Amino acid sequence: MDVSTAFNYTSYYLFPLFASPSNVQIHSIRTIPFTNNPPLNTPSNAPYKERISLKPYNTFGIDVTADYWVEIFHLDDIARLLGTDLYRQYPHFILGGGSNVLFPGDYHGLIIKNSIPGVTVISEDECHVVVRTGAGVVWDDLVRHCLNNGWGGLENLSMIPGLTGAAPIQNIGAYGVELKETFVSLDAVQLDNGQTESFDRERCQFSYRDSIFKRSCKGRYLITSVTLKLDKKPKMNISYGPLKAMLSEKGVDQPTIQDVSRAVRAVRSYKLPDPSITGNAGSFFKNPLVTGDRFAQLQDSYPDIPGYPVVDQSDSTGGDITASGGKITPSGGKITSSGGRSPSSSVKIPAAWLIEKCGFKGMRDGDAGVHKRHALILVNHGRASGEQLLGLARNIRETVLEKFGIALEPEVNIVNGDIGIKP
Ligand code: FAD
Ligand code: EPU
Repeated sequence: MDVSTAFNYTSYYLFPLFASPSNVQIHSIRTIPFTNNPPLNTPSNAPYKERISLKPYNTFGIDVTADYWVEIFHLDDIARLLGTDLYRQYPHFILGGGSNVLFPGDYHGLIIKNSIPGVTVISEDECHVVVRTGAGVVWDDLVRHCLNNGWGGLENLSMIPGLTGAAPIQNIGAYGVELKETFVSLDAVQLDNGQTESFDRERCQFSYRDSIFKRSCKGRYLITSVTLKLDKKPKMNISYGPLKAMLSEKGVDQPTIQDVSRAVRAVRSYKLPDPSITGNAGSFFKNPLVTGDRFAQLQDSYPDIPGYPVVDQSDSTGGDITASGGKITPSGGKITSSGGRSPSSSVKIPAAWLIEKCGFKGMRDGDAGVHKRHALILVNHGRASGEQLLGLARNIRETVLEKFGIALEPEVNIVNGDIGIKP
């Protein structure tokens, strides 16, 4: 399908102004001349700039510069962009809300900022509604829109920063729920040939903080819309311990989706630093998975090590550590064959615990640091550079590897960098 005809569902358009994050500021920088194409004067006047500071566009608040920048509002914008010399001659990076990226240095290439708007009801019956969302819609705006309409499924994913188009990239998850549970499909433009392709759940190969877009399709597709199936008769998921505790403290026995969302927002506001105050990108590393045997060995040296059994990485319990089938220690006892758990089953260990045990929690080196309330969150106290934050991440990774023999894998996308390679 040609990209210019693919975005043809405007008759159901609900609220086109649900577009880009409210803190996005457009810097007024001179327009780049195209060598063999007309300027990118699209119907939506996609802004096109050079030498732009990315500080307002990444939640770490790293002050780096991108050589070139274009903001995409429509499929036509992509089609035009792909025909330019600038696109063909320079490397590119697709940016959403910038809440899961670390720029170690200036970006010598083209930033493609996705701001495709719109939320469309595709179909509905008395039980479900199927909604297609432009990739530039702010994720939490979509969550609130669903809450306001009484559509369940996204309430546990309240308050996750970023845009809808990035949500499938790492199969966002929180408080017992992952995106894949409501996901139907997405549309994405293949950047090599400009064709739009559809990816259903199977093709996306979702697992814990992972999808095909972090592996074989990395950087090759621009996601333009995401389609979700929501529940008009929602079933609540309050399997995550602190969520359940907060609701029962408030005397809420039969929570509504609004109750669950409020509780999630309260837990998150307490635990996680607000990026508009302290720069961060949420969890810097993924929670590692070890075999049951390895976990049992670790328990010999560290009897208080927490672990959560994971039966199948691809099922819905694979995402959230504290909702993944119950904690093994200290309440569950040591893993043994006779203890009812197979020593060969996988166990997920909280990376935050490993990092805290290495003494990093609350530490600060210049303006790069580790959050005082959550050891998995690296923070920029003001003027930290991307290279300083990456250096701290490497230090943490090496220390954890030395002490526990566990290699942490970054969750944050390091742009043109790698945690394993020293400069
Ligand atoms: P960006 O950071 O802009 O991009 C992330 C990656 O996706 C990049 O590789 C980028 O190239 C690619 N990408 C973005 N948009 C597109 C597109 N349209 N097409 C193709 N590729 C694209 N995550 C969770 O899963 N659970 C949480 O609970 C959670 N909590 C967080 C809390 C805080 C305080 C912060 C700062 C982050 C948190 N995150 C969490 C991480 C982050 O919010 C999510 O990963 C989010 O989906 C990133 O969205 P974004 O638009 O900011 O993506
Ligand atoms: N812990 C520590 N020290 C700390 C913090 C936590 O030891 O400073 C230990 C505790 O044992 C705690 C456990 O870590 O019980 C788990 O902590 P938490 O419930 O905060 O969850 P998490 O595993 O650190 C994950 C996601 C979050 C998501 C929450 C809630 C990953 C990498 N992170 O964090 O997602 O919001 O669960 O579901 O899976 C993100 O991806 O950016 C993100 C914030």
